[in-house]
Amino acid sequence: MNRTVKSYVKARNRLSKKNKLLLNTSPTKFFFKDKDFQNFNFLNPEQKNILEIGFGDGGNLLINARQNLDSFYIGIEVYEMGVANVLNIAETEGIDNLKVILGDAVDVLEKNNHFSCFDEVIIFFPDPWPKRKHNKRRLISENFLMNIKKIMRENGTLRIKTDWQDYADEIEIYLKKVFKNYKEAADQKLDSITKYEKIALAEKRKISYFEVY
Ligand SMILES: C[S@@+](CC[C@H](N)C(=O)[O-])C[C@H]1O[C@@H](n2cnc3c(N)ncnc32)[C@H](O)[C@@H]1O
Repeated sequence: MNRTVKSYVKARNRLSKKNKLLLNTSPTKFFFKDKDFQNFNFLNPEQKNILEIGFGDGGNLLINARQNLDSFYIGIEVYEMGVANVLNIAETEGIDNLKVILGDAVDVLEKNNHFSCFDEVIIFFPDPWPKRKHNKRRLISENFLMNIKKIMRENGTLRIKTDWQDYADEIEIYLKKVFKNYKEAADQKLDSITKYEKIALAEKRKISYFEVY
């Protein structure tokens, strides 16, 4: 599927020389660019595998990887600074239960949806694109959720948080169509508070939480 409308705008960021080098050397132990990414078959079926889509600065991804050494974490993000941040920290700390893909999660999953390997898929605070004329840019669509369902193990869980009510309403419609087990307002697990969750809390916006399996 050739998409022209993307869920992100490429930020023009000034990467340091070190980060440029880091992001131009792919694949590595920790990192793939989407063009070099083959498939998820390298994941160990004996292990718990978790995918975080749009991890931003990577705070939640890193905390989870550090705390759950028996699990393996994959992150997909288009924001180069966020990817470089995770790679630098993973390398420095020797966190080796984690791999990051730099690229568009929609494209990555459209091409790699044949292997049911994830126990958990996380999407926290996807960009809300609040203006009606921009709604079509939103990451979560019925097709995207169908691809996520294909890569989830039978008892896998998809967890989504958003602080944008209108987006939450849209997500709920798609989730009910795609997943048979839809749990409304499930109890939140004790996640670390992400950068965007902090902003939502400071601005006193209601946070909708979805958990489906
Ligand atoms: C609002 S931020 C949330 C970041 C983080 N999850 C948090 O809660 O702080 C949304 C993130 O999704 C990323 N993103 C948007 N579209 C994406 C896509 N198609 N594939 C991968 N990442 C995407 C953006 O680059 C951004 O970092």
